[in-house]
Amino acid sequence: MGWKILEKKFLNPDQTLYELVIAAPDIAKKAKGGNFVILRISEQGERFPLTVADYDREKGTITIVVMKAGKSTTELSLMEVGDEILDFVGPLGKCAHIDKYEHPVVLVGGGVGIAPIYPQSVELKEKGNHVIAILGARTKELIFWEEKFRALDVEVIITTDDGTHGQKGFVTDRLRELMEKQPLSQVIAIGPLIMMKFVALLTNGSKDLPKVPTTVSLNPIMVDGTGMCGGCRFLTLDGQTKFACVDGPDVDGHNVDYDNLMARNSRFQKVETERKEEFDHKCRLMAQADKLNAEGACED
Ligand SMILES: Cc1cc2nc3c(=O)[nH]c(=O)nc-3n(C[C@H](O)[C@H](O)[C@H](O)COP(=O)(O)OP(=O)(O)OC[C@H]3O[C@@H](n4cnc5c(N)ncnc54)[C@H](O)[C@@H]3O)c2cc1C
Ligand code: FES
Repeated sequence: MGWKILEKKFLNPDQTLYELVIAAPDIAKKAKGGNFVILRISEQGERFPLTVADYDREKGTITIVVMKAGKSTTELSLMEVGDEILDFVGPLGKCAHIDKYEHPVVLVGGGVGIAPIYPQSVELKEKGNHVIAILGARTKELIFWEEKFRALDVEVIITTDDGTHGQKGFVTDRLRELMEKQPLSQVIAIGPLIMMKFVALLTNGSKDLPKVPTTVSLNPIMVDGTGMCGGCRFLTLDGQTKFACVDGPDVDGHNVDYDNLMARNSRFQKVETERKEEFDHKCRLMAQADKLNAEGACED
């Protein structure tokens, strides 16, 4: 028996971004912001990690938001409501540290990283914090869940690189403005490594800006997700080797060697691209065969 897909929704017109609600009562009982799950679609499938984007303890569901990146995330996007995922393991990783802070807490979500800042925003609000969410993407179509964040009564700032929605520019431009205006207690940033690197540089204290404690969520290659394989190891700036799956994925953003992690993450790019091309080719052939069958072209 697998884990049933209860709801499926594409979040942008290109259908590269999608949301799935999965029946997983045991995981929903314990999940918190910062946790992730590891999936395997089928016997031949690879294991891949996705962050818990929402949970409903009463309904027993976990929501995930996925960006099509390669073979597995594309294959998952082809599954429909009622289909079952073979393995869905979690909650894994440390949950986010949630406290009541004196000053506002700013959550920065970049791209698909908008989803994982949602449960942390809920939990911070429940503790009575002033929460500001900066949602950033390349363009308007890639901003999602804006209404869901507004319904939490958090301050929402939208930013797009091309200015098609909200303010034009990067999330770091908006964060800088907030830092210049008021003291902040915490910054939590989730998104592409390069975005998290620049958020951490901005909040690390300089002659014109104060230092603000900053958490980032690391996304190295993961295999087992339990600290056994070493695939997710990363270097801290003070020279330690840590494992994102058990020491994180949420870690101190000021103590990560981002350049080393970016280099490690790109190591399998060639083989991943080849696998995705093979998969796309197979899909095109199957679609073509379906079309020919429908037209009766295969009949004698
Ligand atoms: C803790 C964690 C949480 C994540 N949460 C989300 C999420 O909520 N939504 C989302 O869309 N993506 C998330 N990711 C990234 C997601 O796991 C990858 O996009 C996915 O594994 C890509 O697989 P693929 O076969 O589609 O693409 P591939 O072609 O195999 O890879 C595309 C890119 O995805 C990354 N990747 C591939 N395999 C893995 C792996 N086993 N572990 C980590 N990264 C990998 C690599 O950077 C690679 O370049 C998360 C990653 C981690 C580590
Ligand atoms: S994923 Fe294997 S040690 Fe972290």
